[in-house]
Amino acid sequence: IGGPFELVDTDGDRVTEATFSDKPTAMFFGFTFCPDVCPTTLYEAGGWLDALGDKADDLRIVFVTVDPERDTPEQMKSYLSSFDPRIVGLTGTREQIDDVISNYRVYAKKVPLDDGDYTMDHSAAVMLFDKDGDFTGTINYQESQENAVAKLERLVAGS
Ligand code: NI
Repeated sequence: IGGPFELVDTDGDRVTEATFSDKPTAMFFGFTFCPDVCPTTLYEAGGWLDALGDKADDLRIVFVTVDPERDTPEQMKSYLSSFDPRIVGLTGTREQIDDVISNYRVYAKKVPLDDGDYTMDHSAAVMLFDKDGDFTGTINYQESQENAVAKLERLVAGS
């Protein structure tokens, strides 16, 4: 799970796995129109960073969209402004995002709605990677803050 990727951040600047090689990363996938899972996780992630205190400087939390058609860098930036500013948002072309979804073994599926719009089903776990990019585990959706922070502390300590 993991590997090379090439995406853009919310300023449209190119980001690859090498950009993140200075610290461990907690990465999760979703989309800005998500009604529940993503906003909940993003909100909780801000709480993890707060609870980590200074150790949060040694960790990166990354939110990757599975819906790049709607989640442009501008849309990502606007959406993420409601959450902790330390959370990094990434998007890309459909092909770039599909590559990441595949390499990171993420489940993501477009689901049409009755009104002609669509939503995205997607996996909800936060994936943890050490600074070498090696997968070390997950934080599950709505796991307790105590557990989540303990896992992140171990991730930071081990890197
Ligand atoms: Ni979501």
